[in-house]
Amino acid sequence: MAILVCGGAGYIGSHTVWELLDHGEEIIVADNLEKGHKAALQGGKLIKGDLRDKEFVRKLFRKHDIEGVINFAAYIEVGESVQLPMKYYHNNVVLSLNILEAMAEAHTPYLVFSSTAATYGAVETSPITEDFPTIPTNPYGETKLTVEKAIKWTAQAHGLKYVILRYFNASGAHPSSKIGEDHHPETHLIPLVLQAALGKRPSIKIFGNDYPTPDGTCIRDYIHVCDLAQAHYLALQHLRSGKENTTCNLGNGLGFSVKEVIETAEKVTGLKIPQEMAPRRPGDPPALVASSDRAKSLLGWKPKYADLATIIETAWNWHKNHPNGYGDKK
Ligand code: UFG
Repeated sequence: MAILVCGGAGYIGSHTVWELLDHGEEIIVADNLEKGHKAALQGGKLIKGDLRDKEFVRKLFRKHDIEGVINFAAYIEVGESVQLPMKYYHNNVVLSLNILEAMAEAHTPYLVFSSTAATYGAVETSPITEDFPTIPTNPYGETKLTVEKAIKWTAQAHGLKYVILRYFNASGAHPSSKIGEDHHPETHLIPLVLQAALGKRPSIKIFGNDYPTPDGTCIRDYIHVCDLAQAHYLALQHLRSGKENTTCNLGNGLGFSVKEVIETAEKVTGLKIPQEMAPRRPGDPPALVASSDRAKSLLGWKPKYADLATIIETAWNWHKNHPNGYGDKK
């Protein structure tokens, strides 16, 4: 039986596909390649199609023997979601509901869902545990929270088993540097900083220096993409062994400010990275740092690349070797 990886040609999806293949899993990737890259897949069967199309999704389940689903497919840009909320609802929510309905119809038992720290919103204290209130500050986080709730109700009604994983800031690249992060447009801090180091951008803009943090810039918890991938495999094993439905944060429990990320990138690359101050980006909470104790105790998750310099180094190796990403400009 196969694991269906929705959005598996994207950044976190492709690293997870690699991890699952390493464990001998049979993989089917469903991706419309709007944001994903065919070249990011190191194996598995790619089925190109749009998960917003209910018939396409139902056919996947009718044609293939699917044991479980990992759902990564989503638009992910916080800033864009504030400008174009309906774009996020129509994609992130609709495609996920299609998957849930098709799973219920086919009696597919296991779902691992890619959620986000953006479900919490502006949290005053840290680290954040899973039972903190969820009050998103942007439509991106809101759409993920909406899907989380739909999953919980579907589980109650149809016996679906699920693990929801709330990622903090996914970053880094596979240590082989064969696959990595390639978004168009790129909006994430670490790849933008490294593109500025490579001279592909004139500078890195720091979005706001008047936040209530020690240096005034936003604090985030950066987590290596391969450690996220490991957690997805463990989540699947957790469900297969009949253990309970759960929601787990995935982060390193350490917060770094935008300025600290730039300083670390300068040390890793040995290059001076030009920077300029810019206004706050709408929707950005000041600080998001995870407690991942639950993922560690319940799933047996052990991050391997927790150090920020190591995370940036793997990203740097990918960017140096692939200055144009996968070269398909999407
Ligand atoms: N930032 C800059 N300049 C830039 C880009 C980003 O100063 O050019 C800042 C942002 O304002 C933010 C921090 O760097 O304070 C990190 O920004 P990212 O865009 O890299 O990441 P976000 O924290 O906005 O969002 C990411 C994921 C979300 C996830 C969230 C959870 O994109 O999916 O982490 O923390 F929900």
